[in-house]
Amino acid sequence: MSEKNHSWLDNAVFYEIYPQSFRDTNADGIGDFNGIIEKLDYIKELGCNAIWINPCFLSPFGDAGYDVQDYCTVAPRYGTNEDLVRVFDEAHKRGMHVILDLVPGHTSVEHRWFKESMKPEKNEYTDRYIWTDSIWESVDCLPCLRGISQRDGSVALNFFSTQPALNYGYYKPSLPWHQAMTDAGPLATREAIKDVMRFWLKAGCDGFRVDMAGSLVKNDPDGEGTIELWQDFRRFLDEEFPHAAMVSEWGEPDKSLRGGFHMDFLLHFGPSHYNDLFRCDEPYFSKRGKGSTEEFIAKYKENYEKTDGKGLICIPSGNHDMDRLARRLDTDEIKVAFAFLLTMPGAPFIYYGDEIGMNYVEGLTSVEGGYGRTGSRSPMQWSKGLNAGFSSATADKLYIPLDPSTDRPDAESQMADECSVYSETKRLIALRMANPALQSNAKIEWIRNDYPTVYLRECSEQKILIVINPSAQPCEVQHIGGKLLYSIGEVKMSETATSLGGCAAAIIEL
Ligand code: NOJ
Repeated sequence: MSEKNHSWLDNAVFYEIYPQSFRDTNADGIGDFNGIIEKLDYIKELGCNAIWINPCFLSPFGDAGYDVQDYCTVAPRYGTNEDLVRVFDEAHKRGMHVILDLVPGHTSVEHRWFKESMKPEKNEYTDRYIWTDSIWESVDCLPCLRGISQRDGSVALNFFSTQPALNYGYYKPSLPWHQAMTDAGPLATREAIKDVMRFWLKAGCDGFRVDMAGSLVKNDPDGEGTIELWQDFRRFLDEEFPHAAMVSEWGEPDKSLRGGFHMDFLLHFGPSHYNDLFRCDEPYFSKRGKGSTEEFIAKYKENYEKTDGKGLICIPSGNHDMDRLARRLDTDEIKVAFAFLLTMPGAPFIYYGDEIGMNYVEGLTSVEGGYGRTGSRSPMQWSKGLNAGFSSATADKLYIPLDPSTDRPDAESQMADECSVYSETKRLIALRMANPALQSNAKIEWIRNDYPTVYLRECSEQKILIVINPSAQPCEVQHIGGKLLYSIGEVKMSETATSLGGCAAAIIEL
């Protein structure tokens, strides 16, 4: 694509593809790039115009690909680098954008950089990771690996024991083996990651979702060093790839957007209270009506004020690390949840399968470091056919077993049903695309934060009032005039008020 900037984000609606589980076209039981290409029209028909693909690079898959062995070669199980380039090209032909998952915080122990770094003789990669200067000394701020090679030192881990932390330096070095951010080793790591970005941006990708973006500089409690580091990446991108979109897994937009990210996710960890909405014992989006948006909105407002005009805050429907929406919400509640997700500022992200209300599959044995997350990573259910249309392999070869429930949802049936979660989601995306006040940059003003939650979205040409009532109790909201643009459940409007039945939503143009 020959765009000059990232303004395509202004009305982007993303679809997250977990490539292992999306669509298998060569009957090996695991999804592949050709499967993604085959389903681009499905994604487009749903209304999404951007895609995030989870890591699809060479890896021993100890953490589903977040343990990268080679950043510039794709995992053969998905296809070839040329196939991934075809994904970009085919998406672009359809007016869609593709972002890849960049994992700059750590590699796999199988990465060539790490193998070199383990050697006792000094070489180009000696300082690519964080090593202490003696095997008897542990890393101060992180767990570490020791006794794994003849190098006399312990090496810091960023996540699992097979994911050593790349070295971007310490914000305030205080021990002899701590390196400063500006030392040669940390600077070389930075440049190596820029090369990775260059490689994929030149190949046609449109940006990155950045894994654990806030974790890079060590001993950096307020993130100041990591922010500085990302500002440097920002300068590089502005110069060479101004169209590239950068989305951070950080969960603190006041920090990440200062670092030059365009968007930050609210996450199931961190200070955002995102879990209060969908993933706690009494989620707000429940007919029981016992949840609360109070703390979520207070934190959102604080972040919004700090970041206004600097970038976007994204609220995903879920992702490969969280329970599926359907683990706690029923179909009606999911529809109202989508009315909220698709009328908020920031680019919405829909996790594959959430648009049909896929279940969290209980009781699965962990696959490739998934542990409790495995139940949210089961194969996409396309149809009522063999293996739900995911693959023509024998069932025992499937990457993760399918949801065994007899009434499991599938895309084909839901596309034919006007009342399905799919159809509701599709209409809501179309509504967002047709109304500028519902899009990423239009302002938000919170009006009520209980049942219902009420907010106003506004841009220069339009004002829209949104009333969200997940509770089974009916409610009424006073307002003057307006036109009902869209509703879910029972909604009645008069000149001065709108009343909603239980588990309903109203979207009113003022
Ligand atoms: C966050 C990713 O989303 C998760 O799946 C992964 O395990 C960790 N980062 C480590 O890379």
